[in-house]
Amino acid sequence: MPDKISVVDVAREAGVSLGTVSNVLNRPERVSAATRTRVQEVIETLGYVRNEAARQLRSGSSRTIGLIVLDIANPFFTDMAKGAEEIAEAEGLSVVLCNSGEDRTREAHHLSLLREQRAFGVLVTPMAARTPAIEEVRRSGTPVVLVDRGSGRAHCSVSVNDRVGGELAVSHLLALGHERICFVGGPRAIRQVSERLAGARAAFAAAGLNRDALQVISTAGLNVAAGRAAGSELADLKAGKRPTAVFCANDLLGLGMLQEMTRRRLRVPDDLAIIGYDDIDFAEAAAVPLSSVRQPRAELGRAATKLLIDERNSPDHQHRQVVFEPELVVRASTAGFD
Ligand code: RIB
Repeated sequence: MPDKISVVDVAREAGVSLGTVSNVLNRPERVSAATRTRVQEVIETLGYVRNEAARQLRSGSSRTIGLIVLDIANPFFTDMAKGAEEIAEAEGLSVVLCNSGEDRTREAHHLSLLREQRAFGVLVTPMAARTPAIEEVRRSGTPVVLVDRGSGRAHCSVSVNDRVGGELAVSHLLALGHERICFVGGPRAIRQVSERLAGARAAFAAAGLNRDALQVISTAGLNVAAGRAAGSELADLKAGKRPTAVFCANDLLGLGMLQEMTRRRLRVPDDLAIIGYDDIDFAEAAAVPLSSVRQPRAELGRAATKLLIDERNSPDHQHRQVVFEPELVVRASTAGFD
């Protein structure tokens, strides 16, 4: 087995100092283009491969950000991940996507793994804002920023005003003349869901309607299958009893609802108007384009990653709770109600 090529071999061959080789590897902007090219050519010629484990021991952290999301199959989160990657890669960092599947045990497992591997930092859309596993990561010196979930002032977070979002969705349905409206979403333990429901009820109250007149179907998850199941429950009702409109806590639920209405030969929006939440690309692409409440998905990822890098690198870091405003997007699935 030939001796491993070291940075000393690279420096000697390129005729530069060890510090210059280190800068080419870690802070290339500090090295002239000519020197950078010469060192990179020697690295390639000699076949040098940096020892990430040794680097990690020296620096105390890896160059990997862990992003733990609730449902990797939900484009909301992959759009958010793209924003996170954009900022991370500009800093020479990488993002590893972990899926909690809306399961606390799996979430805790990912958190402890990222702690043990000395992640640069963790972005998480948690099942609950403060959990022992999140606190343990923080105590180990690894910053954690909540994304798509608000937090108290003691930590960084990036979220969207979901209560306003819920109010936007249901005020839109009320303005179309709907009175029998149903909220579809869950589990309520996820703060984003409970906040959207609270906003929906606030819209009823603002319209002078009894808040409890809003029907609610709680779902076990925020996915297409749960939307189809809720749709089947509504399709079984007689027309006079069935809601005329539903607000789904996210677009996947709305797309499942749309699928089931189509299968049961019920017309959208004529028999049932549907509005979702997130405004993922599939909302606009649906057979009946889905009205939704837009969340700035990539911006959520960018903002959270900037906060994480600042918390890890800036000695005078100040925790911030960034809140974005949602936006109503009206499409055919809630067109005029006659
Ligand atoms: O993060 C919880 C939910 O908020 C996700 O389902 C996503 O769709 C967003 O709407």
